Amino acid sequence: MEKLLVRGYKPLKGQVRISGSKNAILPIMAASVLSSGEIILNGVPDLEDIKVMSEMLEILGAKIHRQNDVLTINCTDIKSCEVPEHISRKMRASNLVMGALLARFGKARVAYPGGCAIGSRPMDLHLKGFRNLGYEITEEFGYMQGRAINAEGKEIMLDFPSVGATENIIMAATLIPGTTIIRNAAREPEIIDLQNFLNRMGAKIRGAGLDSIRIEGVTRLGGVEHTVIPDRIEAGTFMAAAAITRGDVYIENVVHEHIQPTIAKLRETGAEIILTNCGIRIIGNRKMRSTDIKTMPYPGFPTDMQPQFMALLSTVKGTSILVETIFENRFMHVPELRRMGADIKIEGRVAIIKGKNRLEGAAVEATDLRAGAALILAGLFSEGETKISRLEHIERGYDNIHLKLKTLGADITKGNI
Ligand code: UD1
Repeated sequence: MEKLLVRGYKPLKGQVRISGSKNAILPIMAASVLSSGEIILNGVPDLEDIKVMSEMLEILGAKIHRQNDVLTINCTDIKSCEVPEHISRKMRASNLVMGALLARFGKARVAYPGGCAIGSRPMDLHLKGFRNLGYEITEEFGYMQGRAINAEGKEIMLDFPSVGATENIIMAATLIPGTTIIRNAAREPEIIDLQNFLNRMGAKIRGAGLDSIRIEGVTRLGGVEHTVIPDRIEAGTFMAAAAITRGDVYIENVVHEHIQPTIAKLRETGAEIILTNCGIRIIGNRKMRSTDIKTMPYPGFPTDMQPQFMALLSTVKGTSILVETIFENRFMHVPELRRMGADIKIEGRVAIIKGKNRLEGAAVEATDLRAGAALILAGLFSEGETKISRLEHIERGYDNIHLKLKTLGADITKGNI
């Protein structure tokens, strides 16, 4: 099995370009099922999750073609409304096709999804939303099954601003009669990107980015060309990499508004941040200090940046408190970071991190996507060699991270080490 070998203690320097957003492109690909025209997506990153989503759409009958970062999707001749277990298990986001299938074909059968083991990740909010819209939902033999009985626009109050449930309900409401209003909706930038994509195909949606989203049903969606937004979590990861190595890195292709919480927390540690027109420069230093963080739905600090900041806070002066409020099991990187000498104590959903002025390379395992990123960052700070296994988790969501880090001067190699 391939591993990453990281040798640390070298400040990163130079310029890196951020790829298109994984969490924007996945719902957009799922939403392609709503369209009977040709869809051209630009800026598509090279990720395992996108291959899985493409494979899933092909199983349904979509025609997909990829050339470099351009993905063409045609869902005119979808033949099946069933997502089998072997594909659904590979990725949590596979569930996102359910709303789109229900809206376009009035039926869907989707095996319970898999994904990172960071929490139980139930589907109750999605299914409750579908039921409210008048879809009959049953759950049996490991599948979620839905049928349109009297599907029409309704008012839906989400118990929690779930990103996936908001996206799935938007899709389920796009092609049914009447007006749907989603209250307590998630406000993530990826939902705005989904709204923009759907509206360009002929949907009538407004309010994405706010906590109420209004969807007027339409009868048909056509083709579109769309460029996906930059990945704010990849950007945040490179910002943390610059800071942890006390480097000086310029990051291109970012939307400043999307990374405000990451900027704020890095500034609190004492890293220098300079914003330019379409980029951001991060300069780390030896005086960086502790800070406290609580993960929250957007526009709060993203849970997807928590592990990377845990690595960073393990290397700065003082004691930091980090509270994870979104996922109940998202501290799996802690035992791995401890192997590298990090001083972290866990009390329920709270981590207490005492910064050390050195970490040590060790053999560690990427237990999930962002945990893997945290281990790379810790490796970049450590003395000696860090060997990271289970790269399949990292490759799900980072577009050639080792090559991008190499261009910044990191000593990082991928292979059968
Ligand atoms: C999306 C992101 C993921 C990110 C997460 C939170 C994608 C493809 N993935 O995941 O990277 O970490 O948002 O920002 O965009 N919940 C329920 N019932 C439900 C749905 C969710 O209880 O029906 C809970 C989850 O268990 C979790 C919380 O709500 O504790 C947040 O989950 P959600 O916002 O739905 O995350 P995802 O859409 O799965």
